[in-house]
Amino acid sequence: MNKRIAETIVWVKKRLESAESGHDWWHIQRVYRMAMQLAEQTGADAEIVGLAALLHDLTDSKLTDRPAQMEAEIEAFLRQQHVSQTSIAHIMFIIRNMSFRHASVFSGEKSVEFQVVQDADRLDAMGAIGIARAFSYGGYKKRPFMNYNSRAEAEKYFMEGSFDSSTIGHFYEKLFRLKEMMNTDAARRMAEERHNFMLIWLDRFYEEWEGKA
Ligand code: ADP
Ligand code: NI
Repeated sequence: MNKRIAETIVWVKKRLESAESGHDWWHIQRVYRMAMQLAEQTGADAEIVGLAALLHDLTDSKLTDRPAQMEAEIEAFLRQQHVSQTSIAHIMFIIRNMSFRHASVFSGEKSVEFQVVQDADRLDAMGAIGIARAFSYGGYKKRPFMNYNSRAEAEKYFMEGSFDSSTIGHFYEKLFRLKEMMNTDAARRMAEERHNFMLIWLDRFYEEWEGKA
């Protein structure tokens, strides 16, 4: 691991001390590791990917109430690390445009580095970890698991494209859609597996919900 990455890890950890569990250091570490693996498979620039993955959530509104100031702090940090101006611009572009919230408005060209970091972040919302994060977030917001008596009732509602504020609702609203949103083939393969695991888990969840298993 190079010195810049090591120093960025220290810097990011310090800023995540009070973050809730969906966006804590462990999320950043998982995304970083996954992004590095995808970078190797796609030939993306490892340093851009590494730095963008480590810094990607600091400006999120769940972590800061002053995103513009945080952006300025990140840029200053990267300059201090002697990252080139071109690379800084590239990293900031990735961070600003990659989030799920921005995905519906961003239709520009994505570099392979952008693609890889976004895929890694989205993969972390899927599979066993994705399920854990969803319920952790739901608990944090004091939301019910679900609001229906049965699978049939719940799916009738969700399949119409209506969503409530339950955590199971979030699966239909976001988690089951992520598989189709991967940028790279390498991530798509992993997304398929994580998607299938969530479906198996959901079958069991509904069975237990209805007292059938
Ligand atoms: P990210 O920071 O990874 O781009 P979000 O900030 O939207 O994504 O969400 C962080 C985590 O919290 C994800 O795992 C996501 O699935 C989960 N999450 C977000 N909104 C909800 C919700 N309404 N119910 C349950 N989980 C949610
Ligand atoms: Ni994230």
